[in-house]
Amino acid sequence: MVRIGPIELPDSPLLLAPMEDVSDPPFRAVCKDNGADLMYSEFISSEGLIRDAIKSRQKLDFFEFERPVGIQIFGGDEEAMALSARIVDATNPDLVDINFGCPVKKVVSKGAGAGVLKDIDLMVRLTKAVVQATRLPVTVKTRLGWDESSLNIEEVAERLQDAGIKALTIHGRTRAQMYKGEADWTLIAKVKNNPRIHIPIFGNGDIDAPEKALAYKNRYGVDGLMIGRAAIGYPWIFREIKHFFATGEHLALPTIEERVDVCKKHLQLSVQWKGSVLGILEMRRHYTNYLKGLPHIKEFRTRLVTVKTMEEVESVLEEIRVKFAGYVPQRHMVGFSGAQVEEPSCAW
Ligand SMILES: Cc1cc2nc3c(=O)[nH]c(=O)nc-3n(C[C@H](O)[C@H](O)[C@H](O)COP(=O)(O)O)c2cc1C
Repeated sequence: MVRIGPIELPDSPLLLAPMEDVSDPPFRAVCKDNGADLMYSEFISSEGLIRDAIKSRQKLDFFEFERPVGIQIFGGDEEAMALSARIVDATNPDLVDINFGCPVKKVVSKGAGAGVLKDIDLMVRLTKAVVQATRLPVTVKTRLGWDESSLNIEEVAERLQDAGIKALTIHGRTRAQMYKGEADWTLIAKVKNNPRIHIPIFGNGDIDAPEKALAYKNRYGVDGLMIGRAAIGYPWIFREIKHFFATGEHLALPTIEERVDVCKKHLQLSVQWKGSVLGILEMRRHYTNYLKGLPHIKEFRTRLVTVKTMEEVESVLEEIRVKFAGYVPQRHMVGFSGAQVEEPSCAW
């Protein structure tokens, strides 16, 4: 069992990464159905929350069945972070997560944001401000450091633990690397093996298949794995990894029926939660992966991203169900491939 304060997770839990414009409640619902043990909201600006910005407030929503769920905030001002932690606290999620390292302009222009990765003292002050403002467990997600010459995650981990955080997730890249190259988990393992560290350490970066998940879990000894891009349009990644951990064998790939059913559920929740215009629009980024591996799918995909009503989308999905009934793609043809997912503009 892995504990984050009072939250109890199974051994080697799988976490759904916070992803802006992706990890919203509808997407989290289908990930939960498929085995995600702990999920995070998209990041929320502390300044936005305080100003009552509608978009920021909306990101506080979650369904009861999502628990345990974390709400992620970011910002460079102690007071704003403390205030927003209080706002998050009032919505009663299971934990508050702090994102250190997003270089959004309005934060960076105040000399904070990504700069936090270069300023551990500020990081500690911001963390303490949040820890003191909420009764919920506080966790942090960050990168290895600002760049190759400032790989300070070992010091960061100790100092944030001392500041009172209850778990730390490390993305095995620097800010300067953005998404380039392969994530380097060796420093994550070093943090985990530091005898001073007693909080759970979760590893993140490039987990895209059951074999890799098992290999990284064993090689780097982390307490759990956080998965981001590989879950987009492929929420089955969680159950596939769990099955592989338990048996050493691959679970059968989702059938076409399942792919259509889950995609429809995601769409319906999306429309329910965001309204039909946004709900339909924002589903478009998911279809490529939901349908990956099906031959000559381009024509259907084009239709899915051009039709305007939920009924039309559903009717294209039903056509796909009929046309590909019984078709099973090979494993390497489905799921995540980095190039497909738009690189975010922000190096979280
Ligand atoms: C579209 C997108 C949006 C993201 N938004 C956030 C975010 O809001 N907060 C955050 O901490 N990380 C964010 N990230 C980074 C992911 O949480 C994760 O650290 C990164 O994608 C590496 O994990 P992966 O290789 O499993 O995708 C985002 C990544 C992507 C691809």
